[in-house]
Amino acid sequence: MADPEIHRASTTAPVNIAVIKYWGKRDPTLNLPTNSSLSVTLSQSDLRTHTTASCSSAYRKETPQDSLLLNGKLEPLTTPRSIACLRSLRALRSELESANHSLPKLSTYPLRVASSNNFPTAAGLASSAAGFAALVRAIADLYELPQSPTELSLIARQGSGSACRSLLGGYVAWDKGTRDDGTDSCARLVAPKSHWPEMRALILVASAEQKSVSSTAGMQITVKTSSLFRQRVEVVPQRMAEMEKAIQEMDFEAFAEITRKESNSFHATCLDTDPPIFYMNETSKMAIRAVEAINQEAGRTVATYTFDAGPNCVVYYLQKDWDCLAAKLNVALDGKEGWSKGRTSDANGLGVGNERVEEGLKNGISRVIMTGVGEGPISVKDHLIDEHGKPV
Ligand code: DP6
Repeated sequence: MADPEIHRASTTAPVNIAVIKYWGKRDPTLNLPTNSSLSVTLSQSDLRTHTTASCSSAYRKETPQDSLLLNGKLEPLTTPRSIACLRSLRALRSELESANHSLPKLSTYPLRVASSNNFPTAAGLASSAAGFAALVRAIADLYELPQSPTELSLIARQGSGSACRSLLGGYVAWDKGTRDDGTDSCARLVAPKSHWPEMRALILVASAEQKSVSSTAGMQITVKTSSLFRQRVEVVPQRMAEMEKAIQEMDFEAFAEITRKESNSFHATCLDTDPPIFYMNETSKMAIRAVEAINQEAGRTVATYTFDAGPNCVVYYLQKDWDCLAAKLNVALDGKEGWSKGRTSDANGLGVGNERVEEGLKNGISRVIMTGVGEGPISVKDHLIDEHGKPV
């Protein structure tokens, strides 16, 4: 008899960086948020998770448990979050198998998943978002599920809240929903990447180390202890509406203002948490000062900034302003990995007009990622598990 078939599907999934932040859960088990959020999906050329999902009846004998090889390290897929995702995906596959008895019973086979990031894991670069989005998309493809990205986002949300937004490209909202069972807490496309082609992102990597307090733990303490958080929940709905309008109208001034205020509001609630949580560091503050100085000197908004649960600064700007921005940042960033200065001949030596800021960035930024807006998950034929079920 021929060896049992090894079924495989591979995908790549993007990182997303929120401009309206998700921070706080109203239901930690189902991962239901206290407020809606909105993010920009970043280009996978620079930041992506590549995942292969495979299953086979042959795995029953060798490794009966579901397993994950993450960046070459074997991890069990037994955390409550992973179990929740796998259970939902298997249930959908099982429905297909019940409706069509000729289908192989993939839902009953152990899963072997291999995954790798092209950026440091847990450095505050939204790796859990890309990771769970890729896991869910790859298994959904393996199982040939007909569900839409929005429907799959309900599953990815249970893995990591922000992951639900990585199932779509461009500008993506995560509506908090009102139902107790979470069936209306999912991702929604606000605008595709093509809508605003001028939008660019520059990531100033201030640390590639593991963050000190995980988002999951941090937001739980914030919900419990911060009174500022309760005020924040009140202002977010208005900001969501304004942000959607700014994106629809490609109004960078409005986009920039809401983005920086949102980031600052989120980090203020972290500081208001007891004990306080510090995600930004001195370098982060210097990055804020640099952006403020650049805007002030230009007399208009050239760039804006946002920080997730870590010190890395994500700067959003429009392509038409690149030369202006590059000329100002070049003094601090020249020579850093990933940096390429603007095309203007005077792109050297202008600086942001503040030596302390420039020194702070020079010393604190380890590398730069110049990127743009990207697509949602992409199916690929490049498998990380071979036709014998072994990692490649
Ligand atoms: C600051 O999605 O990592 O990046 O749902 O507990 O996995 P869990 O949290 P996670 O939190 C992300 C928080 C944030 C803001 C955001 O992406 O909206």
